[in-house]
Amino acid sequence: MIGKICGTGSYIPSLVWDNEKLAQLVETDDEWIRERTGIARRHLIDGEETTSYMAAQAAGEALKDAGVRPEEVDLIVVATMSSQNIMPCTACEVQKVIGAVNAACFDLNAACTGFLFALNTAQAYIGQGIYKTAIVIGTESLSNMVNWDDRSTCILFGDGAGAVVLKASEDGKYSQVTYSDGSRGDVLTCSSRNQKKFEDEPRDESTYMQMDGGEVFKFAVSKVPEAVRELLDKEQMTTEEVSYYILHQANVRIVRSVAKRLGEKAEKFPTNMEEYGNTSSASIPILLDELNKKKTFQNGDFIVLSGFGGGLTYGASLIRW
Ligand code: ACO
Repeated sequence: MIGKICGTGSYIPSLVWDNEKLAQLVETDDEWIRERTGIARRHLIDGEETTSYMAAQAAGEALKDAGVRPEEVDLIVVATMSSQNIMPCTACEVQKVIGAVNAACFDLNAACTGFLFALNTAQAYIGQGIYKTAIVIGTESLSNMVNWDDRSTCILFGDGAGAVVLKASEDGKYSQVTYSDGSRGDVLTCSSRNQKKFEDEPRDESTYMQMDGGEVFKFAVSKVPEAVRELLDKEQMTTEEVSYYILHQANVRIVRSVAKRLGEKAEKFPTNMEEYGNTSSASIPILLDELNKKKTFQNGDFIVLSGFGGGLTYGASLIRW
Protein backbone atom coordinates (compact mmCIF):
# COMPACT_ATOMS: atom_id res chain seq x y z
CA MET A 1 0.00 0.00 0.00
CA ILE A 2 1.27 3.48 -0.85
CA GLY A 3 -0.15 6.98 -0.59
CA LYS A 4 -0.99 8.16 -4.11
CA ILE A 5 -1.08 11.91 -4.74
CA CYS A 6 -4.67 12.62 -5.76
CA GLY A 7 -4.78 16.40 -5.30
CA THR A 8 -2.49 19.40 -4.97
CA GLY A 9 -2.85 22.99 -3.82
CA SER A 10 -0.75 26.04 -3.06
CA TYR A 11 -0.96 29.54 -1.63
CA ILE A 12 1.22 32.38 -2.82
CA PRO A 13 1.08 35.69 -0.93
CA SER A 14 0.17 38.66 -3.12
CA LEU A 15 2.84 41.14 -1.93
CA VAL A 16 5.65 40.99 -4.51
CA TRP A 17 9.18 42.30 -4.05
CA ASP A 18 11.19 42.24 -7.26
CA ASN A 19 14.96 42.54 -7.47
CA GLU A 20 14.71 46.31 -8.03
CA LYS A 21 12.94 46.63 -4.68
CA LEU A 22 15.81 44.77 -2.98
CA ALA A 23 18.32 47.05 -4.72
CA GLN A 24 16.72 49.87 -2.71
CA LEU A 25 17.42 48.00 0.54
CA VAL A 26 20.93 46.59 -0.03
CA GLU A 27 23.80 47.04 -2.47
CA THR A 28 22.76 44.67 -5.23
CA ASP A 29 21.15 44.72 -8.67
CA ASP A 30 18.70 42.76 -10.77
CA GLU A 31 21.39 41.44 -13.15
CA TRP A 32 23.57 40.02 -10.32
CA ILE A 33 20.64 38.28 -8.63
CA ARG A 34 19.23 36.84 -11.88
CA GLU A 35 22.61 35.61 -13.10
CA ARG A 36 23.71 34.03 -9.81
CA THR A 37 20.36 32.62 -8.69
CA GLY A 38 17.70 32.74 -11.45
CA ILE A 39 15.43 34.68 -9.07
CA ALA A 40 13.55 37.77 -10.30
CA ARG A 41 10.81 38.18 -7.64
CA ARG A 42 9.64 36.77 -4.34
CA HIS A 43 6.18 36.87 -2.69
CA LEU A 44 5.96 37.90 0.96
CA ILE A 45 3.27 37.60 3.65
CA ASP A 46 1.33 40.72 4.48
CA GLY A 47 -1.63 41.59 6.73
CA GLU A 48 -3.50 38.49 7.94
CA GLU A 49 -1.20 36.07 6.10
CA THR A 50 0.84 33.73 8.35
CA THR A 51 2.53 30.35 8.00
CA SER A 52 -0.62 28.51 9.14
CA TYR A 53 -2.96 30.73 7.10
CA MET A 54 -1.06 29.88 3.90
CA ALA A 55 -0.93 26.19 4.86
CA ALA A 56 -4.70 26.05 5.40
CA GLN A 57 -5.40 27.75 2.06
CA ALA A 58 -3.08 25.32 0.24
CA ALA A 59 -4.61 22.32 2.05
CA GLY A 60 -8.17 23.46 1.25
CA GLU A 61 -7.29 23.80 -2.43
CA ALA A 62 -5.62 20.35 -2.46
CA LEU A 63 -8.70 18.73 -0.88
CA LYS A 64 -10.91 20.35 -3.54
CA ASP A 65 -8.60 19.13 -6.29
CA ALA A 66 -8.67 15.61 -4.83
CA GLY A 67 -12.45 15.59 -4.29
CA VAL A 68 -11.85 14.59 -0.67
CA ARG A 69 -14.02 15.87 2.23
CA PRO A 70 -12.18 17.31 5.26
CA GLU A 71 -13.73 14.67 7.59
CA GLU A 72 -12.11 11.91 5.52
CA VAL A 73 -8.59 13.12 6.38
CA ASP A 74 -6.81 10.89 8.94
CA LEU A 75 -3.48 12.71 9.11
CA ILE A 76 -2.04 16.19 8.54
CA VAL A 77 1.76 16.54 8.53
CA VAL A 78 3.20 20.05 8.13
CA ALA A 79 6.84 20.67 7.27
CA THR A 80 7.94 24.12 8.40
CA MET A 81 10.76 25.93 10.14
CA SER A 82 8.83 29.20 10.41
CA SER A 83 5.59 28.52 12.31
CA GLN A 84 4.22 31.64 13.98
CA ASN A 85 3.42 29.69 17.16
CA ILE A 86 5.22 26.91 19.03
CA MET A 87 1.81 25.75 20.33
CA PRO A 88 -0.56 24.88 18.84
CA CYS A 89 1.41 23.39 15.98
CA THR A 90 0.67 24.60 12.45
CA ALA A 91 -0.95 21.28 11.48
CA CYS A 92 -3.52 21.66 14.30
CA GLU A 93 -4.26 25.21 13.15
CA VAL A 94 -4.79 23.90 9.61
CA GLN A 95 -7.10 21.20 10.99
CA LYS A 96 -9.24 23.83 12.73
CA VAL A 97 -9.56 26.02 9.63
CA ILE A 98 -10.37 23.27 7.14
CA GLY A 99 -12.53 21.18 9.51
CA ALA A 100 -10.50 17.96 9.29
CA VAL A 101 -11.98 16.87 12.63
CA ASN A 102 -10.78 13.25 12.43
CA ALA A 103 -7.13 13.94 11.61
CA ALA A 104 -4.05 13.43 13.78
CA CYS A 105 -1.86 16.48 13.27
CA PHE A 106 1.75 17.40 13.84
CA ASP A 107 4.63 19.47 12.43
CA LEU A 108 8.17 18.50 11.59
CA ASN A 109 11.25 20.55 10.74
CA ALA A 110 13.93 19.38 8.34
CA ALA A 111 14.51 22.83 6.81
CA CYS A 112 14.35 22.80 3.00
CA THR A 113 14.17 18.98 2.90
CA GLY A 114 11.13 19.14 5.21
CA PHE A 115 8.51 18.33 2.58
CA LEU A 116 10.31 15.10 1.65
CA PHE A 117 10.58 14.01 5.30
CA ALA A 118 6.89 14.84 5.80
CA LEU A 119 5.95 12.86 2.68
CA ASN A 120 8.01 9.89 3.94
CA THR A 121 6.25 10.08 7.29
CA ALA A 122 2.77 10.08 5.76
CA GLN A 123 3.80 7.23 3.41
CA ALA A 124 5.01 5.20 6.40
CA TYR A 125 1.65 5.63 8.20
CA ILE A 126 -0.24 4.68 5.04
CA GLY A 127 2.13 1.81 4.20
CA GLN A 128 1.53 0.35 7.66
CA GLY A 129 -2.22 0.54 7.15
CA ILE A 130 -2.60 3.00 10.06
CA TYR A 131 -4.17 5.79 7.99
CA LYS A 132 -5.83 5.95 4.58
CA THR A 133 -5.96 9.67 3.76
CA ALA A 134 -3.33 12.29 4.53
CA ILE A 135 -2.48 15.90 3.74
CA VAL A 136 1.21 16.77 3.53
CA ILE A 137 2.06 20.47 3.56
CA GLY A 138 5.20 22.59 3.20
CA THR A 139 4.69 26.18 4.41
CA GLU A 140 7.14 28.96 5.19
CA SER A 141 7.27 32.64 6.13
CA LEU A 142 10.99 33.03 5.63
CA SER A 143 10.62 36.81 5.42
CA ASN A 144 10.51 36.77 9.25
CA MET A 145 13.83 34.92 9.44
CA VAL A 146 15.71 36.93 6.84
CA ASN A 147 17.93 39.89 7.66
CA TRP A 148 16.80 42.40 5.04
CA ASP A 149 20.12 44.25 5.50
CA ASP A 150 22.18 41.19 4.48
CA ARG A 151 22.54 41.03 0.70
CA SER A 152 24.13 37.57 0.80
CA THR A 153 20.88 35.98 2.06
CA CYS A 154 17.91 38.36 1.61
CA ILE A 155 17.93 38.05 -2.18
CA LEU A 156 17.28 34.31 -2.00
CA PHE A 157 14.13 33.69 0.01
CA GLY A 158 10.36 34.05 -0.28
CA ASP A 159 7.12 32.94 1.42
CA GLY A 160 4.43 30.47 0.35
CA ALA A 161 2.79 27.09 0.93
CA GLY A 162 2.10 23.92 -1.05
CA ALA A 163 0.10 20.81 -0.18
CA VAL A 164 -0.70 17.35 -1.51
CA VAL A 165 -3.48 14.93 -0.60
CA LEU A 166 -2.48 11.26 -0.39
CA LYS A 167 -4.94 8.38 -0.59
CA ALA A 168 -4.05 4.77 0.19
CA SER A 169 -3.75 2.81 -3.05
CA GLU A 170 -2.51 -0.59 -4.21
CA ASP A 171 -1.61 1.01 -7.50
CA GLY A 172 1.36 3.35 -7.57
CA LYS A 173 4.92 3.68 -6.45
CA TYR A 174 6.78 5.27 -3.58
CA SER A 175 10.43 4.88 -2.78
CA GLN A 176 12.86 7.22 -1.03
CA VAL A 177 16.35 7.85 0.30
CA THR A 178 16.98 10.53 2.95
CA TYR A 179 20.10 11.51 4.83
CA SER A 180 21.20 13.96 7.51
CA ASP A 181 24.66 15.19 8.44
CA GLY A 182 24.43 17.00 11.76
CA SER A 183 28.19 17.50 11.84
CA ARG A 184 27.70 20.13 9.10
CA GLY A 185 24.86 22.00 10.80
CA ASP A 186 26.88 25.22 11.05
CA VAL A 187 26.64 25.77 7.28
CA LEU A 188 23.00 26.96 7.54
CA THR A 189 21.75 28.29 10.87
CA CYS A 190 19.05 30.38 12.54
CA SER A 191 18.78 30.31 16.33
CA SER A 192 15.40 30.50 18.04
CA ARG A 193 14.19 33.86 19.28
CA ASN A 194 12.20 32.02 21.96
CA GLN A 195 15.37 31.39 23.94
CA LYS A 196 16.26 35.08 23.92
CA LYS A 197 15.09 37.64 26.44
CA PHE A 198 12.47 40.07 25.11
CA GLU A 199 14.73 43.03 25.89
CA ASP A 200 17.23 41.51 23.44
CA GLU A 201 17.12 44.49 21.06
CA PRO A 202 18.44 45.16 18.50
CA ARG A 203 17.69 41.67 17.33
CA ASP A 204 20.56 39.24 17.83
CA GLU A 205 22.26 38.47 14.48
CA SER A 206 22.09 34.73 15.18
CA THR A 207 18.28 34.83 15.07
CA TYR A 208 18.46 35.63 11.36
CA MET A 209 19.20 33.06 8.69
CA GLN A 210 22.99 32.68 8.35
CA MET A 211 24.51 30.74 5.51
CA ASP A 212 27.79 29.74 3.94
CA GLY A 213 26.41 30.02 0.39
CA GLY A 214 29.42 28.42 -1.31
CA GLU A 215 29.34 25.39 1.00
CA VAL A 216 25.57 24.93 0.52
CA PHE A 217 26.08 25.14 -3.24
CA LYS A 218 28.83 22.47 -3.25
CA PHE A 219 26.83 20.25 -0.88
CA ALA A 220 23.71 20.46 -3.08
CA VAL A 221 25.37 19.78 -6.42
CA SER A 222 27.21 16.73 -5.07
CA LYS A 223 24.59 15.18 -2.76
CA VAL A 224 21.43 15.63 -4.86
CA PRO A 225 22.74 13.63 -7.86
CA GLU A 226 24.15 11.04 -5.43
CA ALA A 227 20.74 10.61 -3.76
CA VAL A 228 18.92 10.43 -7.11
CA ARG A 229 21.31 7.78 -8.42
CA GLU A 230 21.00 5.71 -5.24
CA LEU A 231 17.20 5.93 -5.45
CA LEU A 232 17.10 4.84 -9.09
CA ASP A 233 19.63 2.03 -8.49
CA LYS A 234 17.48 0.78 -5.61
CA GLU A 235 14.49 0.66 -7.96
CA GLN A 236 16.59 -0.75 -10.83
CA MET A 237 15.59 2.20 -12.98
CA THR A 238 17.53 4.42 -15.35
CA THR A 239 17.37 8.20 -15.60
CA GLU A 240 15.69 7.80 -19.03
CA GLU A 241 12.64 6.31 -17.33
CA VAL A 242 12.14 9.45 -15.23
CA SER A 243 9.80 12.00 -16.84
CA TYR A 244 10.49 14.93 -14.48
CA TYR A 245 12.79 15.91 -11.64
CA ILE A 246 11.16 18.31 -9.16
CA LEU A 247 14.08 19.79 -7.24
CA HIS A 248 14.08 22.15 -4.29
CA GLN A 249 13.99 25.62 -5.89
CA ALA A 250 17.04 27.28 -4.28
CA ASN A 251 19.10 28.39 -7.26
CA VAL A 252 18.76 27.74 -11.00
CA ARG A 253 22.51 27.09 -11.23
CA ILE A 254 22.15 24.24 -8.72
CA VAL A 255 19.30 22.74 -10.78
CA ARG A 256 21.29 23.00 -14.04
CA SER A 257 24.37 21.50 -12.44
CA VAL A 258 22.38 18.54 -11.07
CA ALA A 259 20.85 17.94 -14.53
CA LYS A 260 24.33 17.96 -16.08
CA ARG A 261 25.78 15.62 -13.46
CA LEU A 262 22.92 13.18 -14.05
CA GLY A 263 23.44 13.46 -17.83
CA GLU A 264 19.85 14.61 -18.22
CA LYS A 265 18.15 17.28 -20.35
CA ALA A 266 17.40 20.58 -18.60
CA GLU A 267 13.77 20.36 -19.88
CA LYS A 268 13.14 17.52 -17.42
CA PHE A 269 13.89 19.93 -14.56
CA PRO A 270 11.08 22.50 -14.39
CA THR A 271 11.79 25.59 -12.27
CA ASN A 272 9.78 28.43 -10.77
CA MET A 273 12.29 30.15 -8.46
CA GLU A 274 12.25 33.09 -10.89
CA GLU A 275 8.81 34.00 -9.48
CA TYR A 276 8.98 32.81 -5.87
CA GLY A 277 12.64 32.60 -4.80
CA ASN A 278 13.54 29.85 -2.34
CA THR A 279 10.49 28.98 -0.22
CA SER A 280 12.27 26.16 1.65
CA SER A 281 9.90 23.26 2.50
CA ALA A 282 7.15 24.84 0.35
CA SER A 283 9.14 24.91 -2.89
CA ILE A 284 8.63 21.30 -4.03
CA PRO A 285 4.84 21.16 -3.37
CA ILE A 286 4.30 24.62 -4.94
CA LEU A 287 6.05 23.46 -8.12
CA LEU A 288 4.16 20.14 -8.06
CA ASP A 289 0.89 22.05 -7.83
CA GLU A 290 1.78 24.39 -10.71
CA LEU A 291 2.67 21.47 -12.96
CA ASN A 292 -0.40 19.49 -11.92
CA LYS A 293 -2.65 22.46 -12.71
CA LYS A 294 -0.95 22.80 -16.11
CA LYS A 295 -1.61 19.07 -16.68
CA THR A 296 2.10 18.51 -17.32
CA PHE A 297 2.10 15.01 -15.84
CA GLN A 298 0.63 11.98 -17.61
CA ASN A 299 -0.76 8.98 -15.73
CA GLY A 300 2.08 6.56 -15.08
CA ASP A 301 4.87 9.17 -15.28
CA PHE A 302 7.78 8.50 -12.93
CA ILE A 303 8.73 11.69 -11.09
CA VAL A 304 11.72 12.22 -8.81
CA LEU A 305 11.46 14.80 -6.02
CA SER A 306 14.72 15.92 -4.45
CA GLY A 307 15.64 18.41 -1.74
CA PHE A 308 18.52 19.62 0.38
CA GLY A 309 18.97 22.13 3.15
CA GLY A 310 19.69 22.97 6.77
CA GLY A 311 20.74 20.21 9.11
CA LEU A 312 22.34 19.44 6.75
CA THR A 313 19.67 17.23 5.24
CA TYR A 314 18.99 15.87 1.77
CA GLY A 315 17.04 13.20 -0.01
CA ALA A 316 15.09 12.02 -3.02
CA SER A 317 11.71 10.36 -3.51
CA LEU A 318 10.25 8.50 -6.47
CA ILE A 319 6.54 8.70 -7.22
CA ARG A 320 4.39 7.41 -10.07
CA TRP A 321 1.73 9.88 -11.17
N1 ACO B 1 24.52 41.48 -4.90
C1 ACO B 1 25.71 41.83 -5.44
N2 ACO B 1 26.88 41.28 -5.07
C2 ACO B 1 26.84 40.32 -4.14
C3 ACO B 1 25.62 39.91 -3.53
C4 ACO B 1 24.44 40.53 -3.95
N3 ACO B 1 23.24 40.22 -3.45
N4 ACO B 1 25.90 38.94 -2.62
C5 ACO B 1 27.21 38.74 -2.67
N5 ACO B 1 27.78 39.57 -3.56
C6 ACO B 1 29.19 39.70 -3.93
C7 ACO B 1 30.11 39.12 -2.90
O1 ACO B 1 30.42 40.06 -1.89
C8 ACO B 1 31.32 38.76 -3.72
O2 ACO B 1 32.08 39.92 -3.94
P1 ACO B 1 33.68 39.85 -3.96
O3 ACO B 1 34.02 38.96 -5.13
O4 ACO B 1 34.06 41.28 -4.16
O5 ACO B 1 34.07 39.28 -2.63
C9 ACO B 1 30.74 38.35 -5.06
O6 ACO B 1 29.42 38.92 -5.11
C10 ACO B 1 30.63 36.85 -5.24
O7 ACO B 1 30.02 36.31 -4.10
P2 ACO B 1 29.84 34.77 -3.91
O8 ACO B 1 29.21 34.51 -2.57
O9 ACO B 1 31.10 34.05 -4.26
O10 ACO B 1 28.75 34.48 -5.05
P3 ACO B 1 28.22 33.11 -5.56
O11 ACO B 1 28.37 33.03 -7.01
O12 ACO B 1 28.72 31.97 -4.73
O13 ACO B 1 26.67 33.24 -5.29
C11 ACO B 1 24.97 32.52 -3.78
C12 ACO B 1 26.20 33.39 -3.96
C13 ACO B 1 23.91 32.96 -4.77
C14 ACO B 1 24.44 32.71 -2.36
C15 ACO B 1 25.35 31.04 -4.05
O14 ACO B 1 26.47 30.69 -3.29
C16 ACO B 1 24.24 30.11 -3.71
O15 ACO B 1 23.17 30.15 -4.30
N6 ACO B 1 24.46 29.17 -2.78
C17 ACO B 1 23.45 28.26 -2.36
C18 ACO B 1 22.54 28.96 -1.45
C19 ACO B 1 21.32 28.15 -1.12
O16 ACO B 1 20.84 27.43 -1.93
N7 ACO B 1 20.85 28.33 0.10
C20 ACO B 1 19.71 27.78 0.63
C21 ACO B 1 19.66 26.27 0.50
S1 ACO B 1 18.97 25.49 1.82
C22 ACO B 1 17.70 26.32 2.20
O17 ACO B 1 16.89 26.45 1.32
C23 ACO B 1 17.50 26.94 3.55
